[in-house]
Order: sequence, then C-alpha cells, then structure tokens
Amino acid sequence: MKTVLITGSRGFIGKNLRAALGRNQEIIIRTFDRDDEPNLLDSLLAEADFIYHFAGVNRPQDPREFEIGNTHLTIQIVETLQRLKRTVPILLTSSSQAERDNPYGKSKKAAEIVLAEYHKQTGAPIYIYRLPGVFGKWSRPDYNTVVATFCHNIARGLAIKVSDPAHELELVYIDDVIRHFMSHLLDSSFFETEKTGSACSYHINTIFKVTLADLAAKIYSLRDLRTTLRVPDLADYFMRCLHATYLSFLPEDDFSFPVKVFTDERGWLFELIKSEHFGQIFVSKTLRGITRGNHYHDSKIEKFCVIQGSAVIRFRHILSDEVIEYCVSGEKIVVVDIPPGYTHNIENVGENEMTCLFWANQIFDQAMPDTFFLPVVK
Ligand SMILES: NC(=O)c1ccc[n+]([C@@H]2O[C@H](COP(=O)([O-])OP(=O)(O)OC[C@H]3O[C@@H](n4cnc5c(N)ncnc54)[C@H](OP(=O)(O)O)[C@@H]3O)[C@@H](O)[C@H]2O)c1
Repeated sequence: MKTVLITGSRGFIGKNLRAALGRNQEIIIRTFDRDDEPNLLDSLLAEADFIYHFAGVNRPQDPREFEIGNTHLTIQIVETLQRLKRTVPILLTSSSQAERDNPYGKSKKAAEIVLAEYHKQTGAPIYIYRLPGVFGKWSRPDYNTVVATFCHNIARGLAIKVSDPAHELELVYIDDVIRHFMSHLLDSSFFETEKTGSACSYHINTIFKVTLADLAAKIYSLRDLRTTLRVPDLADYFMRCLHATYLSFLPEDDFSFPVKVFTDERGWLFELIKSEHFGQIFVSKTLRGITRGNHYHDSKIEKFCVIQGSAVIRFRHILSDEVIEYCVSGEKIVVVDIPPGYTHNIENVGENEMTCLFWANQIFDQAMPDTFFLPVVK
C-alpha cells in the first residue's frame, strides 16, 4: 500500500487525480485543502509516500496571495519533511508562467527553486511540470481556463467574448496530465524519456496549439452536432478531448435531445449519427408482415442487425435469379453484411414489431443516393 498526499485536492486537477487514484486499491489517499488546520500537515507529511502538490493560488484578490499560496506552502512542506527527516517524492504543478516576470510566475518559480534545493540536499525525487493551460472535465468557467468558459457558456446559449481571435493557446488535456502524474507513482521509468531541461523538470508529451477564434469555432461545431447528427473526426485527438470536455459542461437537465423520426405505413426510422469518415448509423422499426428495401447499391455497403423481433433478409445478385435468405432475430444477434450488386430486402416475419440497427458506409445523399429500386423476388 502507498499513502499519497494531494494538496489542493478539491481543485480541477486534484479532483481528476483523486478519481483516478481512487480506482487503485493499493493506494491510500490523504488530502490537504485550504480549510484544513495548518498543523494537520505535520501528520500528513509524516505518513505520505508520495506528494502531489497542487495547492496553488491562481486568481487572488490580492497579488500578495501568490507568494503565500504558491511559495510559502511549498517552503512549509519541505521544512516539515526535513524536520521529520523524511525523503519523499514530490510532484509540483508549476506553470509555463514561471518563465515570466509576473507575480504568479515568480511565485511558481520560487516554489520550483525550493523543491530543486530539497532534491539537491536529500536526493528526493522531484517532478516539476511547467503546465500550459489544462482543459477537461471539472475545470471551472470564468477562472483559469478559457476552454471551460467557452464550453460552459456555449452549452447554455450564453455569449462568449473572443478578445483577440488570433491569440494562440497552448493546451494539455487533463487525462494526459493525470496519466503522466500517475506514472511517477506507479511506474517511474515510464516517462523517463520525456524529461526536459533540469533533472527535475518534466512535460506532458501532447501539447495542442489553437487560436482563440479556432477554439470558439470548434466548440460551436460541437454544440451543433445535435442538429447535424455529425460526430467530429475521431482521428483528431484534440477534437475528441474537446468533445468530452464540452459534454462535461452540459447542464444536467440537458443531456437528451430529440431526433427527427420518419414515420410511414411501414413503421418508423431515425438517423442516430453521421460522419464523413464512418458513414451513418440509423434505426428502424418495421410493422408485422412489412417488407422494406428491394434495392441495391453500386458502392454503398451496409450492415443490418435485427435487435428485436424476427426477420428474413433476402438477397439476389442483380445478374442472377437465385434468391438467398438469412433468417435473423433479436433472440440471437448476428450482423448481416450487405454487399454491393445484390438487391436486398428485409421482411418482418414475427408476431410483433421488428427493430433493426443499420450502418452504412456513406451518409445518405439525396442528390447521389446510390440506391436503385429492383425487387428481390421477380
Ligand atoms: N489548470 C491549469 O491550467 C494550470 C496550469 C498551470 C499550472 N496550474 C497549477 O496547478 C495547480 C492545480 O491547478 P487547478 O487547475 O486544479 O487549480 P484549482 O482548481 O484552483 O485548484 C487549486 C486548489 O488549491 C487550493 N489551495 C489554494 N491555496 C491553498 C492552500 N494554501 N492550502 C491548501 N489548498 C490551497 C485551492 O483552494 P481555493 O479554491 O479555496 O483557492 C484549490 O482547491 C495549481 O497550483 C495551479 O497553479 C494549473
């Protein structure tokens, strides 16, 4: 068992790390937060095997709080460990601002120096991350990340302010941050190659660069997925991270949204998701005795999966008279491939309605449907 101390555990990064470490039965989590008694730190530091030092002041009323929150607390931790004669690994979340001449940056730089000195004197492993902006679930709007502010506002139909559209942000994603942070606790050799600069300095391997205007446009496009039914390009890792972040900001009474259901005498059909990269998924319900289809495609391919009820899927090669039948039902799920050049139909042969899930490798295009009517049974 390892005892891990997280300072600032109720903040954005702290909450995400707590959730991730909490899944590991071998780890005991201890926390030190703003309203804890300062002398509690002694007993926490006496038992900690690893310290994640996240407690930090980012946006104080009074700039003097930077030094108190970011530097003094780090000094207090190191002095206490030295008094206790303990050599404990510490991971510090510093900031890319540490290179800059501003009160926040200076206070972070001073904390780095304190830890580097502790490392020199004791040999304790120290992991200093100069983080750029971190984004992800549980970040706070109107605070230290514009991604949270944009996601929060756009998900609620509120205006956003893009002060300098061309301004370029450097961002890292919370799950990447947590993976790096946990590697030092669980497998210290894992990220050894990503060390940069001084002995104690580390960085997150995936850094995204995006302008404010582009970021806003991307988040608006994520909002619009509910009407276009599109999913973003899943090969684009930044969009995947941003999509997850955006959804984490949905109001809790707005997780669901209606879709257009096309109803006719055969039953109904609705489209679930569409993508230029993987086509579309749609679902149909077919009434008893009804047959759908009787068409073929030149290039479009599909998969049919009956998930409720019973059906017969029939095929005929368009240059042949022979009819092939597949009997399928929701009792024993199978997926049926629909090759091009075969006219096909699906008939509900059960006592009740039949539900079928479909995938097609193209989005249906009215102008070029690649769908040609031809009865299966002549
Ligand atoms: N998120 C980023 O983009 C980013 C980038 C670079 C560096 N960092 C650094 O990474 C750390 C964590 O970031 P975060 O985004 O999780 O920030 P956060 O949400 O503000 O969390 C920091 C937590 O530390 C607490 N805290 C402040 N002073 C404390 C003290 N003296 N004793 C105990 N707890 C104290 C804060 O409490 P209150 O809420 O009551 O103040 C807050 O819960 C911070 O040090 C931050 O400077 C973050």
